[in-house]
Amino acid sequence: MDARTSRYHDVYTRSMRDPEGFWGEAAQAIDWYQPAKKIFDKDAGIYGRWFTGAVCNTCYNAIDRHVERGRGAQPAIIYDSPVTATKRVITYAQLLDEVKTLAAVLRDFGVQKGDRVILYMPMVPEALVAMYACARLGAIHGVVFGGFAAKELATRIDDAKPKLILSASCGIEVNRVVPYKPLLDTAIELAQAKPEACIILQRPQCDAPLTAGRDHDWASLRDKARAAGKSADCVPVLATDPLYILYTSGTTGIPKGVVRDNGGHMVALTWSMHGLYGVSPGETWWCASDIGWVVGHSYIVYAPLFHGCTSILWEGKPVGTPDAGAFWRCISEHRAVALFTAPTAFRAIKKEDPNGEHIRRHDLSNFRTLFLAGERADPPTVQWAEQHLKKPVIDHWWQTETGWGIAGNPMGLGPLPVKHGSPTVPMPGYDVRIVDEACRELPANTMGSIVIKLPLPPSCLPTLWQQDERFKESYLAEFPGYYKTADAGFKDEDGYLFIMGRTDDIINVAGHRLSTGGMEEVLAGHPDVAECAVIGIADALKGEVPCGFVVLKAGVTRDTAEIEKEIVALVRDKIGPVAAFKLAITVPRLPKTRSGKILRGTMKKIADGEQWSMPATIEDPKVLEEIGGALKQKGVGT
Ligand code: COA
Ligand code: AMP
Repeated sequence: MDARTSRYHDVYTRSMRDPEGFWGEAAQAIDWYQPAKKIFDKDAGIYGRWFTGAVCNTCYNAIDRHVERGRGAQPAIIYDSPVTATKRVITYAQLLDEVKTLAAVLRDFGVQKGDRVILYMPMVPEALVAMYACARLGAIHGVVFGGFAAKELATRIDDAKPKLILSASCGIEVNRVVPYKPLLDTAIELAQAKPEACIILQRPQCDAPLTAGRDHDWASLRDKARAAGKSADCVPVLATDPLYILYTSGTTGIPKGVVRDNGGHMVALTWSMHGLYGVSPGETWWCASDIGWVVGHSYIVYAPLFHGCTSILWEGKPVGTPDAGAFWRCISEHRAVALFTAPTAFRAIKKEDPNGEHIRRHDLSNFRTLFLAGERADPPTVQWAEQHLKKPVIDHWWQTETGWGIAGNPMGLGPLPVKHGSPTVPMPGYDVRIVDEACRELPANTMGSIVIKLPLPPSCLPTLWQQDERFKESYLAEFPGYYKTADAGFKDEDGYLFIMGRTDDIINVAGHRLSTGGMEEVLAGHPDVAECAVIGIADALKGEVPCGFVVLKAGVTRDTAEIEKEIVALVRDKIGPVAAFKLAITVPRLPKTRSGKILRGTMKKIADGEQWSMPATIEDPKVLEEIGGALKQKGVGT
C-alpha cells in the first residue's frame, strides 16, 4: 500500500474544491426520471439539500434497471441461514417479481407515497422485499431491530405513525426462538398511534395467533395478489423525499428518527461501492450486520444492489452457528469478495479459534478485503485478523446519521498505508475537523471534538423526522457552521483520523449504539430506586457493556440482590436483550461534584482499572472508595 499510487488525494481534493462537479458526476451512475435542477441547493432544507428537483425511484435503481439490462438471472440475494438450516438464492428477476407483488399488496391497504410502514422483522428475504416494496411506492419504511423490546417499538410507532406494520412470527437466536407477536401486540397496545393493519409472516419455527380484524397472513396475501396478477410499478419521488426513517439512540430515552433521502443516498452509496470498497458489479458482497441497523440498511439492502452486486443475507452469528468457522464457510461457499462486519464479531471468533484453524480449512481465494466498522477496531483484533486472513483489514468510521463511511481507506482508489487504531482518512465530501470547545481547530495529535463542516455530503441526514428543531439543537447548535459528530479523537500529521470515544452518554455494546441516559430512565422507574447512574465499562468481547449503580430509597429493607435482579430484568423488558444489561450494583451514594453532577467519567475509570485522579470539585472523596469497593465485590475493576 503506497500513498503515492493512490488516487485518493486527487479525488478528495476535487470533492472539496468542486463538490457539485464531483457529486454531479457520481450521480451519472443513477437512473433519474428527471435530472436535478441543482446538484446542491444551499437555500433548501436546514443546511442545503442535494439533487433538488430530481425525480427518481430507489427500488428501480436497486432492481428493475438491472433486470432490464440483463442481470435478471444473476443472484441478487443469497439467503444463508444457519439457524434454520436454510439457503435460498433469489435472482434479480425473481426479486423484482416478489417486490412488485408485495408492493401491490401494500397499495391495496392504501399505502401511498409518503406513508410510513414499520417493519419489525428478522433477517429473512421477506424483510428486504418489504423494504424495496415500500421504496417502490414512495412509502417511508422504519425498520426496528428485533432485539428491542415492546416499549422501544411503541416509541417508534408513536413517532412514525405508520399506516401498516409488517412483522414475522419470530426471530431466531442461536439457542432460542424469539416470538415477535407478543412484543408487537404489547407495543401496539402501548402506542397511541394504532396502525390500520399488520401483515405477519408465519415462520415454520413458530406460529403466531393473528388478531382478527387487524392481522393478515403475509403468505396468503402474496398468493392471492399473485393469482390475481397484481403488480405495482415504481412511483416517481423527489430525490429529496424520504426513503426511510431509522431510529437511533439519542441522549434520552426518546430515540432520534434519522431521515434518509432517496437521491443523495443512492449517489453516495453507489460511489462507495467502487471508491471505498473496491467492488465491481456482478461480484458477491457480504455485510454481516442486521437490517435493523444502518450498516444493514446501507450495505445489505441498498448499496450492493444499486451497484449490481449479489448481497448475502446472513441469519446467523460469528460463533455458535455452528462454530467459529461459519464466516469462512459462508465466504468460501458463495465466493464473497469482501466481508463487512463489526470488530466484536472478530473478537468472538478470536476467542474461540485463537490460532485461526477454521480459516485454513476454507478456500478464501476469491476473498479480497475485510471491512470493520460500528465501534473502534482495536489494534490487537485487527492484527489477529491480518495475520490469519493474510488480506487487508480495513477499519472505517461512520454513524447512523451519515449512512456511509465518514472516514475509511479507499480500496477502489488505491489503498493508503494502514495505521492500526485509525479508520484512515475522510471520504469525499467530508470536511472533518478537530476542534476545542470554542470551535477552534486543534493542531495534529491533539484530542478534541470531531466536527464536519457543513454542508454534509449526499446521504447524510437532512433532519430528524418531523423534528427540525431537535436536529438543529442536537447537531448544529454547539459548533456553528459544523455538524457535531459527538465523537472525540484526533488527526495525526498525515491527516489520519483516530476516533477515541463519544462525548455524550452513548455507549457502544457489541457494535450496537445504546443510550445510558435511556437506561437510567428505566432504572429510575424501579419503585425502590432513589438515584442511579449507568456507565459503559470495558468488556473484552463486546467492547463495552453497561453497568448500573443504584441508590435505594430510604427505608427500603429488601434484599439488594433481589432488587438488582429485578433491575436487570426491567432493562431487558423495557429496552430489550440487545442492551446486554447484566450488572446492577447497589451503593449507599453516588459520587458527585459540589454542584451535584454525577462523576460518571471517574466511575468508569475505576471500573476499567485505569489511572484516575481525584476530581477537585468532588463533594466527598470517600464515595469513590465505596464505588471501588462495590465494583470489587462484583469482580469488576480488580
Ligand atoms: N432479536 C432478539 N434478540 C436478539 C437479537 C434479535 N434480532 N439480536 C440479539 N439479540 C439478543 C441476543 O440473543 C442476546 O440475548 P441474551 O442476553 O439472552 O444472550 C442479547 O440480545 C445481546 O445480543 P448480542 O449483543 O448480539 O450478543 P450475543 O452474545 O448474542 O453475541 C456477538 C455476541 C459478538 C457474537 C454479536 O454481538 C455479534 O455478532 N455482533 C456483531 C455486531 C453487529 O453486527 N453490529 C452491527 C453494526 S456493524
Ligand atoms: P451507529 O450510529 O450505531 O453506527 O454508531 C455510531 C457510533 O459508533 C459513532 O459515533 C462512533 O462512536 C462509533 N463508531 C462507528 N464506527 C467506528 C469506528 N470505525 N471507530 C470508532 N468508533 C466507531
